[in-house]
Parts: sequence; C-alpha cells; structure tokens
Amino acid sequence: MRGKKNGQKKVAVITGGGSGIGLAMARIFAASGYSVVITSRDAKRLQKAAANIPADKKKVAGIPCDVRDPVSVAKLFREVGKHHSTIDVLINNAGVAHSLAPVDQLSIETWKEVIDTNLTGTFLITRAALPLMRAGGTIVNNLSVAALQPFAGMSAYNASKFGALGFTRALREDLRKRGIRVLALLPGATDTEIWSQFWPDAPKEKMISAETVAQAVLHAVSAPANTTIEEIRIGPAAGVL
Ligand SMILES: NC(=O)c1ccc[n+]([C@@H]2O[C@H](COP(=O)([O-])OP(=O)(O)OC[C@H]3O[C@@H](n4cnc5c(N)ncnc54)[C@H](OP(=O)(O)O)[C@@H]3O)[C@@H](O)[C@H]2O)c1
Repeated sequence: MRGKKNGQKKVAVITGGGSGIGLAMARIFAASGYSVVITSRDAKRLQKAAANIPADKKKVAGIPCDVRDPVSVAKLFREVGKHHSTIDVLINNAGVAHSLAPVDQLSIETWKEVIDTNLTGTFLITRAALPLMRAGGTIVNNLSVAALQPFAGMSAYNASKFGALGFTRALREDLRKRGIRVLALLPGATDTEIWSQFWPDAPKEKMISAETVAQAVLHAVSAPANTTIEEIRIGPAAGVL
C-alpha cells in the first residue's frame, strides 16, 4: 500500500457504497487492507452491505448520507473525522440515471434530481472531505462514458456527467500543488441495478462486472506517487448500446 504510516490502515470513503460498483470497490479496498467507510441513503441496505464485507476487526463502516444535502454531508464527515484523522482515498460514486426521455418530455424534478446527485453531490462531498485529505491522497470520481459521449433520451444524465468531468478536471488543477491526485473513472456498460432505472431489459450478459471496474480502480490508486494517472476508461470489448 502506498505510503503507509506507522502500521496504520489507510482510509477509503466511498459514496453509493451499498450496491453495484461502489460495493465492489468497498470489498476490494477492504480486502487489500483499507479501513472503508461506505455511504448511501438506504440505511438498512447500507448496514447489511457493510456487515457482509469480510474485513479484519470489522474495518468497514456504513454511515447514511444523502449527497445532495449539505447538512447530511457535513454530518457524514463529522462522523468520519471522529474515527479517522485522514482520508487517503475518496471515491465519488453515488449516482442516479433516469428513464429515457427526449428533452421536451423531461420533467424539472428529474433534471434536478440527476444534476443534484451526480454533479452537485460530487462537489459537496469533495468540499467536505478535503480538510481530511493530505498529499499522497487520491480522489476518484465515477463518471461514465456518458461524460464524453451523448445518448438520445439521456440529456440530464449526460449533462450531469459532462459537468462532473469538467469539475474533475478543474479539481485536479486545484489540487496539483497539494499532491492530491484526481482520477476520472469512465466506465462503459457495467452489470448493476442502475440499468433498471432506464433500461430494465438491457443485455446484462454483454456488460462488464462491477468487480472488473473495482480492480482497475484499486490498481490505479495503488500506482506509485510519482505516477501520472488521470483517467480510467474501461468497458465491454464489444459494444452494448
Ligand atoms: N452501471 C453502469 O453501467 C455504469 C456505467 C458508468 C458509470 N456508472 C456510474 O457508476 C456509479 C454507481 O452506479 P452503479 O451502476 O453501481 O448503480 P447502483 O447500484 O444503482 O449504485 C448507485 C448508488 O448510489 C447511491 N445513491 C444514489 N443517490 C444517492 C444520494 N442522493 N445520496 C447518496 N447515495 C446515493 C445508491 O444508494 P441509495 O439509493 O441507497 O442512496 C446506490 O448505492 C454511478 O455514478 C453511475 O452513474 C455506472
């Protein structure tokens, strides 16, 4: 593990960690020796997920938080700060999609929910985590190929992810001098529950697994401190969409 101090475990905070790609990352980081904090809105599912991750001395904690709500986000990091002096890895992964809808049929409620979660949530979590982050730390923002490629009927999702990529790139410049690396994760179709939000019959057998994405993230985060690594593009070899 990179730059480990006095036998202390490194700490990873993962939003949206109760399911899908977030849960797969929580498992793989815990397995490689990190203390892991996972967070999402559904407290029951979160506790169950945390309890089921094998880790020595139960080094996985589930703390509920709604990333759209600055009060909830502040409470999360107060709680994290009681147990950990430093966050080594922050993974902004919480996200929602929406039913396919052309712009003239997209409701303002859906637009706001998607932008508030995927874009503003990433900002709020990052801003609140930064006081606990030090040189050598890494922030991973889970975006999507939809941060680069437009899809018909997905304007809110596309806008949130294009915006989050802009935020990620600006954040990288902000943090360069502090020695905190910022990684954009750009997965293609991955077999998780998110597809039920807009394409329930999507061909899951053509997708990659959440574990494959998680392995790539752990590998990138573990690269030596003098390595430049800014983007992870990973997806099915053959297209799904
Ligand atoms: N699956 C894919 O093909 C794919 C491809 C590219 C990128 N991604 C991105 O990967 C990330 C994870 O998605 P997934 O595919 O693993 O789907 P998922 O299983 O539905 O995970 C989404 C997670 O985000 C949490 N979440 C949603 N809104 C939240 C909020 N307001 N506050 C806190 N947590 C919230 C959800 O938990 P609660 O509902 O309990 O809050 C859930 O744990 C998303 O950002 C998604 O855009 C997915």
